[in-house]
Amino acid sequence: MEFSIKQGNPEKLKSGCVVVGVFEGGKLSTSAQALDKAAKNVLSDLIAQGDISGKAASTLLLHKLPGVAAERVLLVGLGKANQLDNKTSLDILRATFTALNGTPAKEATLFLIDESIGKSAEWVIKQAVFTAAEQAFRADGMKSKPSKAATLKQINIATLEKPAAALKQALDQATATVQGINLAKTLGNLPGNICTPSYLASKALALSKEHKSIKTTVLEEKDMQKLGMGSFLSVTRGSEQPAKLITLEYYGADKKHKPIVLVGKGITFDTGGISLKPGAEMDEMKYDMCGAASVLGTLQAIAGMGLKINVVGVIPTCENMPSGAATKPGDIVTSMSGQTIEILNTDAEGRLILCDALTYSAKFNPDTVIDIATLTGACVVALGHIASGLFANEEKLAQELLAAGEQSHDRAWQLPLWEDYQPLLDSNFADMANIGGRMGGTITAACFLARFTKDYRWAHLDIAGTAWKSGKEKGSTGRPVPLLTQYLINRTNGK
Ligand code: BES
Ligand code: MN
Ligand code: ZN
Repeated sequence: MEFSIKQGNPEKLKSGCVVVGVFEGGKLSTSAQALDKAAKNVLSDLIAQGDISGKAASTLLLHKLPGVAAERVLLVGLGKANQLDNKTSLDILRATFTALNGTPAKEATLFLIDESIGKSAEWVIKQAVFTAAEQAFRADGMKSKPSKAATLKQINIATLEKPAAALKQALDQATATVQGINLAKTLGNLPGNICTPSYLASKALALSKEHKSIKTTVLEEKDMQKLGMGSFLSVTRGSEQPAKLITLEYYGADKKHKPIVLVGKGITFDTGGISLKPGAEMDEMKYDMCGAASVLGTLQAIAGMGLKINVVGVIPTCENMPSGAATKPGDIVTSMSGQTIEILNTDAEGRLILCDALTYSAKFNPDTVIDIATLTGACVVALGHIASGLFANEEKLAQELLAAGEQSHDRAWQLPLWEDYQPLLDSNFADMANIGGRMGGTITAACFLARFTKDYRWAHLDIAGTAWKSGKEKGSTGRPVPLLTQYLINRTNGK
């Protein structure tokens, strides 16, 4: 799918479909007025007859209007002019692309930013690109007869005035971000028998082949043994698949600038281990590597943009399986940091692989470390599928991530990392237990990680509720690639 920005008159542009807005009550947008004039008041007549309501996200497709060069005109309801909040704007964009995808048009021209729907023109452009890509994404590549690719191939964002350079930049950033989102989605949707730790490593190596700016290194279990990663290795004991520790180094800026390190949980399948999960919906635990996928996706996005920043991706990846060799409840292991952990529940494995990866991350002398993990079912209970859970050991970092989430509409919500929760992790036999009891499970998981991130600025994103959708719409969302990419863009702009 290709995107462009162009200036033009809606009546004169040759297009498969030109899209213009109509407000509730029948007020035409400036571009709709131009079409109405060229087509001798056809639109005004349709409004008078009640064919066009202008209700937000309603659509009406018209063909071959006299005096209009485009083959089709799609009228989109913008609702009440002063009630265009973000949600309504997204509803409008979704309805627009659903309607376009219902036509045979290969190309469409959207006059939607002149009326400044949404936060800003940049915001609308990014969300239009995300929405178009979302609807074009196919997840059925493994069916013997996959569904047809979308017919719509070219989308032009059109303006009546000359588009500002910032709009072109927003478009380029959005298209690169979509590449990253799609990579994360594709990896997330792959089943556990294909997307193994070795598979993720091969994808990381492929990414550095594609982008010379990325250097990938893969550590094996014997290397991790030497590093003293007893916590990470305890999780992979029950698996036949070898664990991997993948690092991807992207130097888009002078090496003297400290990198931002992204650490992604890469459990390619989480059975729970000896603390076996119940059977229902266990297939969804193939998504337990979505943190890792979001790191790969974000690196893909920023390398595609050539973003002038240094970023390191660190991905601890393995399976969590039961077997005769598997770690047992009550086992005590020593992490790379030297701290000992009593594993009271082998299903709380994400923190066990992350803590060693977080200790390892210090070697990059990071400016900031952000880990991304499908860490706790409790986070889904707390925030549902709308917001990711956010924790940080510095308030400024938390605010920057929350802002990037708003900007990209990939939102997070901050939860407390107070010391008061720490005693819940007390163990009689080791420095800490790996679980903190039933209450506040998302917070105690973050508190566990905080014990390994004292030496640098750090944030943790719990994406258990946001990385994928269940039920009929089952599929990976590619989140939080938009949030992370926007945060990195903002950091290069000195924001
Ligand atoms: N990968 C799961 C978290 C998860 C569960 C994400 C369901 C999305 C949906 C994680 O490894 C896990 O099993 N966490 C346990 C922790 C508990 C044993 C303290 C959980 O949330 O039940
Ligand atoms: Mn688990
Ligand atoms: Zn897990």
